[in-house]
Amino acid sequence: MPSAVEANLPPTNEGYGTHEYWEQRYANEANGTTFDWFLSPTYLLPLFEELTTHDNGKGKGKETRILTLGCGNSALGEVLYDNGWENIVNIDYSKIVIDQMKERHISRPKMEWLEMDILNLGFGDDEFDLVVDKGTMDAMLTTKGDPWNPDEKDVRTCTQEVTEAIRVLRKRPGSKFVYFTFGQPHFRKRYMENRPGFKLSHKEIGPPEGFGYFMYILEYVGDQ
Ligand SMILES: C[S@@+](CC[C@H](N)C(=O)[O-])C[C@H]1O[C@@H](n2cnc3c(N)ncnc32)[C@H](O)[C@@H]1O
Repeated sequence: MPSAVEANLPPTNEGYGTHEYWEQRYANEANGTTFDWFLSPTYLLPLFEELTTHDNGKGKGKETRILTLGCGNSALGEVLYDNGWENIVNIDYSKIVIDQMKERHISRPKMEWLEMDILNLGFGDDEFDLVVDKGTMDAMLTTKGDPWNPDEKDVRTCTQEVTEAIRVLRKRPGSKFVYFTFGQPHFRKRYMENRPGFKLSHKEIGPPEGFGYFMYILEYVGDQ
C-alpha cells in the first residue's frame, strides 16, 4: 500500500508537466496543507529584502508589487505578507489550489489569488516590480531526454514563460524577474539570456547544509 506521499506522485516525471496531475494532487491534499518543494520562504526573506531594494538604497521596499508564478500551496505568499510585502498577486493554473489558498488567506485581504496560465498572463504590460518563479519552470522541464539538449516543446514553454514574465514587468530600473531553482546555470540560463533591456545574473544561495540552489535575476536596465 503506497504512503500518502507516494500516492500523490505522478507515475513518471512527465506527469509534473500536466495540468491534470496538479489538479488531482491538490484535490487529494487536505485543505489547509502548505508545501514548499524546496527552500523555505523564511530562509528566502533576506533575499527579498535585497531584491526589493536597489543598489542606490532606494527601491520600492515593502511597496513592491509582486507576482508569484505557479504558487501552488507554498507558504511564500503568506511569509512575505506577514513580513510586510502585502502587494502580492499569486497565480496558478490549478483552480483547486487557488480556491484553497483564497480560503486559507481570507485574513490577508490585500493578497490576491488568481487561476491563470503562466504562458498567457491576463495582465497588461508593465504592472509588476518583481515577478517570482520558485520551482515552477522546473516542473515544466519534465519531458524525457537529454538535459543538455532539452525537448523543443520544453524550450518553447520556458522561453514563453520568461517572455510573459518580463512583459508584465514595469520597464524601470530595478524591476526584476527572479527564479529560484535547483537547475544549474548551463541548464537554465538559456531561457533568460539575450532579452533586450535586461541583464541576467545568478548566484548560488545555499542553504549551507545540503543541496545548493540557485537564484537567477533578470533585471531591467533599459538601453545601455
Ligand atoms: C513544483 S510546484 C511549485 C510550487 C511552489 N512555487 C513552491 O515553491 O513550492 C509547480 C506549480 O506550478 C503550477 N503550474 C505548472 N505549470 C503552470 C502553468 N502553465 N501555469 C500556471 N501554473 C502552472 C502547478 O500547478 C504547481 O502548483
